[in-house]
Amino acid sequence: MLGVLQVERTSYRRCALTLKDIAERARRDATVPVAERDVERALSALLSSEDIWRVIDLSGVPVMALVRVLSALREAGFLDWDGGRLVLTPEGREFAGSLGIGPKLELKCPHCGGRGTTLGPVGKIADKFKEIARDRPEAIQDYDQGYVTEETTLYRVAFMWSRGDLFGKELIVLGDDDLVSIAAGLTGAPKRIVVLEIDQRLVDFIRDVADKEKLPIEVKQHDLREPLPPDIKGKFDAFFCDPTESLRGFKVFAERGIAALKGPGSAGYLGLTHCEASYGKWREIQRFFLDAGAVIAELRDAFHDYVNWPYIDHMRSWPHLPVHRIPGRDEIWYRSALIRIELVEGPHIQERRYEGDIFSDDEAATT
Ligand SMILES: [Fe+2]
Repeated sequence: MLGVLQVERTSYRRCALTLKDIAERARRDATVPVAERDVERALSALLSSEDIWRVIDLSGVPVMALVRVLSALREAGFLDWDGGRLVLTPEGREFAGSLGIGPKLELKCPHCGGRGTTLGPVGKIADKFKEIARDRPEAIQDYDQGYVTEETTLYRVAFMWSRGDLFGKELIVLGDDDLVSIAAGLTGAPKRIVVLEIDQRLVDFIRDVADKEKLPIEVKQHDLREPLPPDIKGKFDAFFCDPTESLRGFKVFAERGIAALKGPGSAGYLGLTHCEASYGKWREIQRFFLDAGAVIAELRDAFHDYVNWPYIDHMRSWPHLPVHRIPGRDEIWYRSALIRIELVEGPHIQERRYEGDIFSDDEAATT
């Protein structure tokens, strides 16, 4: 009888916990921000899936914050992962229910994968591009590489075309492990394409393809920590880059891209995740764009799907994950938004030289 009473008391005590309590536990000694809303997002994802990679994707909580929320939920008796699955305990389900939290819905349009665009004329080069991409250099950790699916690159190019930033335009790509320059070149739409790339393997690969296919692509080996070469600055209608996601690293890429633009009316495209960037970081980034003279014209979340990279069990967040299962190559969990900015004035950019590591900050998870 006493035992039953104790159980009841324990469960009463657990359910008296609030999102704030869990968030506070998760924040204990943390170097990353954890919001109460992150706890809510994590619970909603856990009600939809027991798989670690799906929970990361569905929750939209930065990985380094999510692992702390999961630990706090386990500490409270709401979650268990001994069997390699993330299983909410009956108390955990009761907790979520008492807060009115339901399972996360993913209502992606089945036609466009939620991208809101079709391939249009880019569809014609799809087979050729996929054939070329088969021989691409594999992603390496040195430069925080990890490329998107070929389909994603094609949709990206179609999106740029539809926004008037490709046909007859001068395009610069800053870091091109996604092979945007090749897909854009194959369409025959851009007037000129320049690639700045640090990795000699990619420089050689893109150059060889451009020669063979007679594409209007110039490839220059360049470390983006250095300011732009003078013949590049202020010369382009549009830039594309998929920055590393430390705040400093993101700004390095964005500053170089914006500095390459001609002026008002020129556009920039960038990727940004939830996996490695809290809304606090998103806000800093948005402020940076506004200060640079740009407006965020469009933002399409989860536009980019990434192929799993070979160094996944060596990435920064790996030892912190509660469950260690290497996902299949095409088991997509890392996605990023496509952001389109357009210059309204400026660009107002102070070109600086950066030293040292640009890949790490406390939220970095895949470096
Ligand atoms: Fe659609």
